[in-house]
Amino acid sequence: MLTVNFNPFPTLYTSRLQLRQLKTGDVKEIFELRFSKTIMQFIDRPMAVTQDDALVFIQKITDNLHINEGITWAIAFKGEATLIGTIGFWRIDKENHRAEIGYMLQPQQHKKNIMQEAMVIALDYGLNSMRLHSVEANVNPANEASKKLLLKNNFNQEAYFKENYYFNNQFPDTVIYSLLTP
Ligand SMILES: CC(C)(COP(=O)(O)OP(=O)(O)OC[C@H]1O[C@@H](n2cnc3c(N)ncnc32)[C@H](O)[C@@H]1OP(=O)(O)O)[C@@H](O)C(=O)NCCC(=O)NCCS
Repeated sequence: MLTVNFNPFPTLYTSRLQLRQLKTGDVKEIFELRFSKTIMQFIDRPMAVTQDDALVFIQKITDNLHINEGITWAIAFKGEATLIGTIGFWRIDKENHRAEIGYMLQPQQHKKNIMQEAMVIALDYGLNSMRLHSVEANVNPANEASKKLLLKNNFNQEAYFKENYYFNNQFPDTVIYSLLTP
């Protein structure tokens, strides 16, 4: 069984970014992300309606971190406090050394290779520090940005599930991508 320990919190750095711990002070930016139609159109989770919803989200992330069941980094530019996005591992399947990756970025920062930069360092942590054997991504088939990002990071499409879950009175399809340790 895989053992992971997120204490002390692993802050990560890239040339432009710092990936730090999410905190309640990030509530405004988390609310804006989870209230954005551009962002949430491909994330089949309920949109935040109030800042309290964003606080509940931050609390859940924090609780999971404390019990080593998941890790989410707040993405910010180096030297700046403001969160511009998030990336992390959740649904950690310790028995099978596998986890799911999730990420979102403020629309005004899209297409600047920011998530690419964050993903490289997050995957390095997942594979080399957490010692995951594989990482999975569940993607809405219409999410071209996410699919391109995953392919660029050596993920392969492994499955296409038709109408495999129920959300908002619909049954969307899911594409499953996965990355194995080399
Ligand atoms: C997915 C997401 C994080 C990508 O972030 P990003 O910083 O814009 O991505 P990058 O700039 O690093 O781009 C990575 C690659 O995807 C491509 N790409 C980015 N947005 C794209 C789009 N809308 N359509 C097609 N390709 C796109 C880039 O061109 C780049 O490829 P390239 O280097 O060959 O040009 C961002 O679009 C987002 O937050 N989406 C909403 C949340 C979401 O969908 N999360 C994932 C759920 S599975």
